[in-house]
Amino acid sequence: MKTIKDLDVWDKKVILRCDLNVSIKDGKISSDERIIASLETIKYLINSNCKLIIMSHLGKVKTEEDKKNNSLKVVYERLKELLPDINIYFCPETRGKVLEDYAQKLQNGEILLMENTRFEDLDNKKESNNDLQLAKYWAGLGEVFIDDAFGMTHRRHASNNGIKKFLPSGVGFLIAKELEMLDSLMNPEKPFVVIMGGAKVEDKSLLIESIIKRTDYLLLGGGIASTFLAANHNVGKSLVSKEYISEAKKLLTIYKERIILPIDVIVKNNEDIHIKNITELNDDDIIYDIGPHTIKEYEQYINKAKTIFMNGTAGLYEDKNFEQGTKSILAFCSKSTAKVILGGGDALASADHFNIKDFYHLSTGGGATLNYISTGKLACMEED
Ligand code: 3PG
Repeated sequence: MKTIKDLDVWDKKVILRCDLNVSIKDGKISSDERIIASLETIKYLINSNCKLIIMSHLGKVKTEEDKKNNSLKVVYERLKELLPDINIYFCPETRGKVLEDYAQKLQNGEILLMENTRFEDLDNKKESNNDLQLAKYWAGLGEVFIDDAFGMTHRRHASNNGIKKFLPSGVGFLIAKELEMLDSLMNPEKPFVVIMGGAKVEDKSLLIESIIKRTDYLLLGGGIASTFLAANHNVGKSLVSKEYISEAKKLLTIYKERIILPIDVIVKNNEDIHIKNITELNDDDIIYDIGPHTIKEYEQYINKAKTIFMNGTAGLYEDKNFEQGTKSILAFCSKSTAKVILGGGDALASADHFNIKDFYHLSTGGGATLNYISTGKLACMEED
């Protein structure tokens, strides 16, 4: 894998693929972590006297209407604030004369941010289906291609996998750093503790099955814990993935010493909220968080760990009644002397929510991080 340092970028017109897929609420960026994470490569290229064309996707674009809510213009505004000394332009088109003119007029040390690559999905999903005509066209706008969109590395789209077929290419500092950090989880210093939560097991079954073999303790929360608990307990009306319960039962038999489940939980029953031992749930209870005894128990495991990977949250942390599990785990992890890596959109959003961010590494990838840890591979990086 070539990196940006292996390529001659001096004075060149460079196409840089970033993952600027930030979450936006009411037209405002709610977390600019991904923009910040892209700055090192952007600055390096500007300092290398490049003319820089940045491309990124934002959300999903399936209808004309989706274009309004998924314009990169809001990212452009933030980029200008973050790089006040650089001339930055925004091209509202993803193809055609306007784009070509912008690219043509770009001067050394200037940046052009092109509109959302997924606008091209309205034309037969050309971007997402890795249409090589489109990739070739985009490649024609520059001389070198740098891929730094780590969050996209599990996908082969025209703007990442496609363009690199037509230009000298390498990865930027963010991808290189993410891979180095995540590689350390493949051969972790022990004890290795994985904390997993989140709503659905299906999305993470591959990760669970691969990581359970490498971890010393897998601490569960959220809907994932409810599904595992449902193998041996009444979990009332809690969110469970019914199809996964028998698989969970099997894993609990094989790995009974490794899979650690809540011993108490916070449940809601109509409007009442109670702390209950896991053996005491009735048919109308719904689990929304782990309980205080579980938090204490999980703290012991976290304190013993030398490496920790956290993915997903312990409960419905956005609601104050159910925030304690996630908040406490983040706090324990941030105080721990272990190498702690947080991965996945929900874990990162919860760290942001509680402003607890003192970790060894916060991975900018959601699906990409999970894919890499589960399979050791990333689709975009694989040879054809
Ligand atoms: C992400 O947010 O995980 C990446 O930006 C990829 O986005 P996608 O899941 O919409 O392809």
